Amino acid sequence: MNKPLDHFVPLARWLHWSMAVALLAMLFIGAGMVASVSTRHQWLIQLHKPLGIALLALAVIRLGVRLATRQPPLPADLPAFQALAAKASHWLLYGLMLTLPLLGWAMLSAAGDPVSLGAGVRLPPLLAPDAATFAVLRTAHGYLAYLLFCTVLVHLAAALYHGLIRRDGVLRSMARGR
Ligand code: HEM
Ligand code: HEM
Repeated sequence: MNKPLDHFVPLARWLHWSMAVALLAMLFIGAGMVASVSTRHQWLIQLHKPLGIALLALAVIRLGVRLATRQPPLPADLPAFQALAAKASHWLLYGLMLTLPLLGWAMLSAAGDPVSLGAGVRLPPLLAPDAATFAVLRTAHGYLAYLLFCTVLVHLAAALYHGLIRRDGVLRSMARGR
């Protein structure tokens, strides 16, 4: 039998930290963008769209890495409800990392506004234009973005609990391996 790992594989760690920075930036760009009617709105939205699509590509790669590699086990003495909460919240995070950018792309398709990535590259529409569908997807994009933000805050609190209070190696397994 394989020896249990004590850390996530380097690619998983690289994806975790670079996506954490980019996702947090996206949440603030999104919130700042809808709060501004100045010329900054256009500038922020032109940043929000390609960065969101890049995060979709990274999320797909990350899911592939997750399914193709082994993960370090949670500490054996972790109460069952905490282990269950950890697993459920990780899958919720994976789900949101995939759903949010897809919703952004789909809602712009429903608005009849093609997603342009710059340098003349345009993504194909995911849906036919329809105002009612746009309204539903736009609302869902907003709510799910704030659900992601709340889940990340709980996840951060849990990581600090493992790192500073339990000191059980869970934070180290993602931070630097050993
Ligand atoms: C992980 C990826 C993403 C995150 C975390 C994110 C986050 C957000 C947030 C927080 C808002 C503000 C919501 C509100 O207050 O109602 C927003 C709005 C928006 N997002 Fe995203 N988003 C992501 C991906 C995308 C993608 C890929 C697109 C399009 C290709 C997109 C297009 C938009 C648009 C058009 C708005 C509304 C702008 C407006 O009403 O002026 N988003 N997003
Ligand atoms: C947008 C921000 C973040 C997202 C979306 C995110 C997402 C994830 C996901 C999906 C996992 C599960 C990995 C797997 O089993 O494949 C994970 C694990 C982990 N994350 Fe994050 N993370 C974020 C920010 C952070 C921050 C700020 C910290 C710490 C300060 C952190 C610490 C950890 C640790 C320690 C693990 C390993 C947990 C375990 O083994 O059960 N994460 N993260």
